[in-house]
Amino acid sequence: MKVLSVASEVAPLIKTGGLADVAGALPAALKAQGVDMRTLMPGYPKVLEALGDGRQILTDGDLYGGPAQILYGKAAGLDMYVLDAAHLFYRDGGPYAAPDGFDWWDNAERFAALCWMAARLCAEGHLHGWQPDVLHAHDWQGGLAPVYLQRMGVSHKVGSVMTIHNIAFTGSAGSDMLGRLRLPAEGYNSGGFEFYGRISALKAGISYADRVNTVSPTYAEELKTPEFGMGFDGTLKFRGSAFSGILNGIDTEVWNPVTDPKVIPYKALRGKAKARAALTEELGLDPDRGPLGVVVSRLTEQKGLDLLLHALPRLLERGGQLALLGSGDAWLEEQFLAAAQANPGQVAVRIGYDEPLSHRLIAGGDAILVPSRFEPCGLTQLYGLRYGTVPVVANTGGLADTVIPLTFATRTAGVATGIQFQPGSGDACVAAMDTLCDLWAQPKAFQQVQRNGMKHPVGWDTSAAEYAALFAEASKHP
Ligand code: ADP
Ligand code: GLC
Repeated sequence: MKVLSVASEVAPLIKTGGLADVAGALPAALKAQGVDMRTLMPGYPKVLEALGDGRQILTDGDLYGGPAQILYGKAAGLDMYVLDAAHLFYRDGGPYAAPDGFDWWDNAERFAALCWMAARLCAEGHLHGWQPDVLHAHDWQGGLAPVYLQRMGVSHKVGSVMTIHNIAFTGSAGSDMLGRLRLPAEGYNSGGFEFYGRISALKAGISYADRVNTVSPTYAEELKTPEFGMGFDGTLKFRGSAFSGILNGIDTEVWNPVTDPKVIPYKALRGKAKARAALTEELGLDPDRGPLGVVVSRLTEQKGLDLLLHALPRLLERGGQLALLGSGDAWLEEQFLAAAQANPGQVAVRIGYDEPLSHRLIAGGDAILVPSRFEPCGLTQLYGLRYGTVPVVANTGGLADTVIPLTFATRTAGVATGIQFQPGSGDACVAAMDTLCDLWAQPKAFQQVQRNGMKHPVGWDTSAAEYAALFAEASKHP
């Protein structure tokens, strides 16, 4: 089975969030399932640099306003097709936004171009010796690809799977863009890619792909409700059994406390104490206070960190501490910085993106705090489980699917791995801080929860098999 994955970010080449981790990890995870996955991504400067001399596979004289080529080669150990289109992707700044933080004005065309070339690779694969059976599109940036497969007349030969990592990003464009985006006018309706009077690339993927999935079973159920579906609930319900949830895994080699070169490695909790001591010293925190809650996150509405601000006084009052690494909304950055200033030695805040520090936080913390309003899967609670850092999470999406909450029953059975609370509630977050501090006050019970977490499977094995089965369902040559 040959699968072409189409993604706007792929770790370790370029990353703004978990999508990159998943797109980067799936090819290796799927190899064991007999799936030969190659990845198509945009030729951002860093990506072209990592690719070096690629082999030219396809050219296009006018790809949404300029010349383009697809180069094939290895980058960061992955089999990559890179879309080299300087007028669209060779820019300073992030994958979606300019250095001033504003979205690129032409994002609709940029990712339409990625999808167009993905469909061409599928339509013309036989010409260059690698014919995909299935196209795997990630998020709205890949959403138009299934439409283009149909437009190029190959959707009966090449299957398609659309993976929703986050429904909040719809890939919206005005209806006057139909022609410019090379979309068929007859698809502009509620059963196609029309969404509240505009074009939505995400809706296109949901409507046209042979199979649709999201990144946890609970989020798949939540998405079918008006509360979480953000307007897509009806369409997703309509897809019936063609829509499912497959839980993300993490790269258990990169995130392995025993071999992690970014931390003082440890196998058991005694060793973790050293990583903790190094972290409290680095951040100027009090080594004798606890529990030490850590956060590694984008600072946005989704992540519910305003709820944590509400609950922070309780954590501190009870002797706990907080260390946060993140960046995003200015008001959240300011409030956390103010909290650090007001509580020296008890709250440490680092604004920015820092991969090595994220490892040191996960290794050195006692608890990883994830108070999200919604969370399709979430990866940091999985890192926490693996590093014996107890997840304290909102009971939603993938957080609900990965953490066994402390209750009377789970405690009696000795199986709890973390603490869960009602999403979106500041008071529930305060109560969760109390539960955490109560547990911390009983070292044996705390350690049991840590050890349970360290045994919880967080890798890709099961989910890779589910993806392989999904690709087989979508394939036109079963
Ligand atoms: P999302 O994709 O919604 O941001 P996930 O939990 O799925 O949430 O993935 C976030 C990923 O980005 C994780 O690998 C996390 O460690 C990483 N991350 C987020 N913020 C930072 C940061 N400021 N520095 C380093 N890594 C970060
Ligand atoms: C999204 C979601 C996150 C998920 C990630 C990878 O960014 O917000 O929950 O883990 O994609 O699938």
